[in-house]
Amino acid sequence: MPPCRKLSRSFSFLFFIAASCNAALPDDFLPPINNQTQVSMNQETPVGKLAQNKATWSIAIHGGAGGEPGRWNEQQIQDRLDGLKAALKKGTDMLEKSASAVDVVQAVVQVLEDNPNFNAGRGAVLNSVGEVSLDASIMDGSDLSCGAVAGVTTVRNPVGLARAVRDKTPHVFLCGEPADAFAKEMELPLESPAYFKTPEQIKSWEAWKQKQAAAGGKTSKNDHAKGEDRLFYLGTVGCVVRDQQGNLAAATSTGGLLGKKYGRVGDSPIIGAGTYAKNETCAVSCTGVGELYIKHHIASAVSSRMEYLNESLNASTKFAIHTTLPVDSGGLIAVDANGNIELQFNTPMMARGQAKSDGTFQVGLQDWAK
Ligand code: GLY
Repeated sequence: MPPCRKLSRSFSFLFFIAASCNAALPDDFLPPINNQTQVSMNQETPVGKLAQNKATWSIAIHGGAGGEPGRWNEQQIQDRLDGLKAALKKGTDMLEKSASAVDVVQAVVQVLEDNPNFNAGRGAVLNSVGEVSLDASIMDGSDLSCGAVAGVTTVRNPVGLARAVRDKTPHVFLCGEPADAFAKEMELPLESPAYFKTPEQIKSWEAWKQKQAAAGGKTSKNDHAKGEDRLFYLGTVGCVVRDQQGNLAAATSTGGLLGKKYGRVGDSPIIGAGTYAKNETCAVSCTGVGELYIKHHIASAVSSRMEYLNESLNASTKFAIHTTLPVDSGGLIAVDANGNIELQFNTPMMARGQAKSDGTFQVGLQDWAK
């Protein structure tokens, strides 16, 4: 048989094997995006260069968008900047040692959850009945595996519980008391309500309550969606990473909005709204008025614009924050397959930080801190 016929037979055989394997794949199998898509998707660095950039890494964090650093005294501002630095340092130390993106986003968000100066874990805002109700999610861009929890009240690190949902169950999302029971089953650290409710948050809740009483106890439908109040209520924490292996991950955790109706769930635990990661495009973590982020599925919209419209990370994040969303609704952090970082917000400030293997290490509330 001529060599070309032999070759063609071999290819047919390989094709048959590949087709048979494909038939055995589970229904939710998603084929990877091919390299051609990756090349056109990111015009800043052609994908061919990724192999040379293997040892590079990038990380971004946020500690919530909002509008009132003016209501914090110098010490409170410093505490927030120190908290951001400590979280970013945790991430950079892990990334330098080749930790995986999903491990890093979890560890970094846990540092922020443990810090009472941020609205997540300890120090979370209180809901309409004066209780904490915590939401979190995590996503691994290498295989789209993810986990989320909503309305939990006892687990010290909600993002750790979200990770357990991803790792130990066939599911994506657990909520309420059963999710707390799962935390106990997983032997994750649990805390009493007194651990979460800080004096500062009790004070904020009392002020909110008084305002409510002055308004006749009525909550306007738009209290959290309009006007200067919106800036007062915001806050969440999140982290996005591109690790040395080129994998992306994102995680987000929050106490939600001050005075939120009991039972209310925001965007943070909703994959595609507050959190998204896909190796071929980007990893995104959002902060802001959750209802708006859910309506516009902001996190996955950023990824989809890159994938379907060949937009850069810069263009797609700008579109989400400055075109899709109204002014003063929040912000997001994002990293792409080539390690480019975007920190976009349409509020007067967003607590944030970024670091890269090139030596970049910055944190800030409005401008970058000196
Ligand atoms: N973005 C946080 C929340 O709305 O709950």
